[in-house]
Amino acid sequence: MGSALLPVYPPFPVRPVRGYGSWLVDDEGHQWLDAYGGHAVASTGHSHPDVVHAIAVQAERLLFYSSAVPHHLREELAERLAALCPEPLGRVFFCNSGAEANENALHLARKHTGRQSIVSVAGGWHGRTVATLAVTDGARYEDGARRAGMPLSVKVPFDDVAAVDAAVNQSVAALIVEPVQGLAGARDCAPEFLRAARRICDARGSALIFDEVQCGVGRCGAFSAAEAYGVTPDILTFAKGLAAGLPIGAVVATPAITACLSVGDLGSTFGGGPLVAAAALANIGVIEREELIANAIRVGDYLVRGARALGIVRVSGRGLLLGLHLGRPAGEVQRALFDRRILTGTASDPQVLRLLPPLSFSLREADLLLAGLKEVLA
Ligand SMILES: Cc1ncc(COP(=O)(O)O)c(C=O)c1O
Repeated sequence: MGSALLPVYPPFPVRPVRGYGSWLVDDEGHQWLDAYGGHAVASTGHSHPDVVHAIAVQAERLLFYSSAVPHHLREELAERLAALCPEPLGRVFFCNSGAEANENALHLARKHTGRQSIVSVAGGWHGRTVATLAVTDGARYEDGARRAGMPLSVKVPFDDVAAVDAAVNQSVAALIVEPVQGLAGARDCAPEFLRAARRICDARGSALIFDEVQCGVGRCGAFSAAEAYGVTPDILTFAKGLAAGLPIGAVVATPAITACLSVGDLGSTFGGGPLVAAAALANIGVIEREELIANAIRVGDYLVRGARALGIVRVSGRGLLLGLHLGRPAGEVQRALFDRRILTGTASDPQVLRLLPPLSFSLREADLLLAGLKEVLA
């Protein structure tokens, strides 16, 4: 079974048939604790009843129509997102994935500035479309962009203000940054770095893009990492956790940036359809009603303290996007946790174990994770 499927990600050893909260149930009825959060997507937990209900109601009413027709849920979702992002971020475009959101963000920055080149940060991961491969760090990704004839971004070292100052000149369309780098191992940028990036982009007329595909939607201390850091980009992208499992990407930009657009410059058949808009609105409603951003901060702090108590000296990240720097191969620890039916992530840094559980992760679930880690690290 499954042999027709091309292998993409290294598979976790679980075949889930059901999910609730932070838990998966496999085909033999075993329960698995999901500290990988369904790949950072299950922000309100797996199959939250409010999200499921909203999807069911909307599926009965109207499954789909594209942006060729106005729809109140698409409009409402755009308004909600604009209200949840720092001003003047207020214009929203919907698509279907993180890479697509970043692709459109880069396109928009180039169109606005009339410039071509992009600066990105070492360790940054932005997607697998040609334009996003070109700004993603790593030879295998850059090779893909090069083969397609796409000019590569200039990569600056992580948190290096002087390098940004040197690289972002007046021919640069944009600097793209993950405020908290996901795949690199939950590496949180220093606030001074992001503040300096803002100043430098302003001075050179370049756009500042925050890729919040992994770190956004309440995971890192506020609805947007931009708000958590107090630094507002010109363009911000969301995806993974926004609709709790239905495919979505969102580009949120300032009116100054979007002024260059005419009808037809951006588009997506599926983007912002009624079903996914209903799911995202319900998901945002749950995040607010259940105060999940505060929960993510509280449980994140608890995990950091618990990890330190286990002798893990360095923990990076913010909220519930955490990197445990183990000083030993994280893959081995991840596999030993699989044996205890606990899912965690690894990172491009082979010694970092990445935690990205649902924002609803409880202190009891954090204790179970820490107890598993304690056994494995003993
Ligand atoms: C920071 C970041 N940007 C972009 C992407 C690409 O998102 P997608 O897989 O939805 O295209 C990812 C996916 O892991 C990501 O973590």
